[in-house]
Amino acid sequence: MSNSVESASDTVMLKEVFEGLTKPQKSLPSKYFYDKKGSHLFDEITELEEYYPTRTEIWILENYVDEIASYLGEEVELVEPGSGSSEKTRILLANMPNICCYVPMDISGDYLFKVAEQLQADYPNIKIMPLQADYTQPFDLPEYSPTARKVVFFPGSTIGNFRKERIELFMKVMSEMVGKEGALLIGADLKKDQEVLEAAYNDSKEITAAFNKNILSHINHKLGSDFNTGLFDHKSIWNEKDSRIEMHLIVNKSHSVQVNGTVIDFEKGETIHTENSHKYTLEGFAEMVSPWFEVKKVWTDERDYFSVQYLEPK
Ligand code: AVJ
Repeated sequence: MSNSVESASDTVMLKEVFEGLTKPQKSLPSKYFYDKKGSHLFDEITELEEYYPTRTEIWILENYVDEIASYLGEEVELVEPGSGSSEKTRILLANMPNICCYVPMDISGDYLFKVAEQLQADYPNIKIMPLQADYTQPFDLPEYSPTARKVVFFPGSTIGNFRKERIELFMKVMSEMVGKEGALLIGADLKKDQEVLEAAYNDSKEITAAFNKNILSHINHKLGSDFNTGLFDHKSIWNEKDSRIEMHLIVNKSHSVQVNGTVIDFEKGETIHTENSHKYTLEGFAEMVSPWFEVKKVWTDERDYFSVQYLEPK
């Protein structure tokens, strides 16, 4: 069988895919949803009737932008890990004259530098300083002015997809990066009726199903494996005990798949766990971040579906 593992990142992917698929409860890292097709499908998800997080967070940011600005201070260096398209950040950049510079951060450079160039053209009064870096590794934050206050922006409830160790690492790195005088502005999705949550992740147009199955196509493409997406069904379930939506791919027929020359067996009815999306109570979120940050202000929508929270280091 051909081995199409070509780059160092493919080697990492192969290791992580193997690790996940050889556990009793098979799993795959949710970061592998986002190839070109997956990113496009995610954009489509954000437009769905049932998928409330994106439009709710945007509403909160637009509605409270002046108040948020007053919390961030006079001269702000805004830093965004995993900035992607920086779409939500535009709400802040367009409406907060106190932002002197913006550091979009991403692991891959091509898209990052392209987005940065467009942002610089659109906001000539803000210094755009893209940083190609992986925050799990040591990096140097460009400093615009020694007096500017460093504020991390982390929207989208991306924190909700992290496991415990990853949250700890993220909080530690971000609190050290912004320093004692800095702050964190973070989006956190809130706990709500199970029906609303499950509908948001099992949409009627089945875009989320396509998004979930695309992780297998992405892996096929990168590792030369032979997953047949037709042998898997999408399902998202609410896990009350852990307060999270779990996405799974359910095997609908027993079969085996080869990944880089190794055969992996799949039994009908078993699942590959592909994502966790934690939903928080305000108390639970404050408690979770409490070793590093204190929650100073929370903005929500009228239904309390989503929150944007302003945190200061302890
Ligand atoms: C934007 C990554 C937080 O968990 O709601 C959307 C990803 N997964 N539908 C989320 C996602 C399924 C999303 N995040």
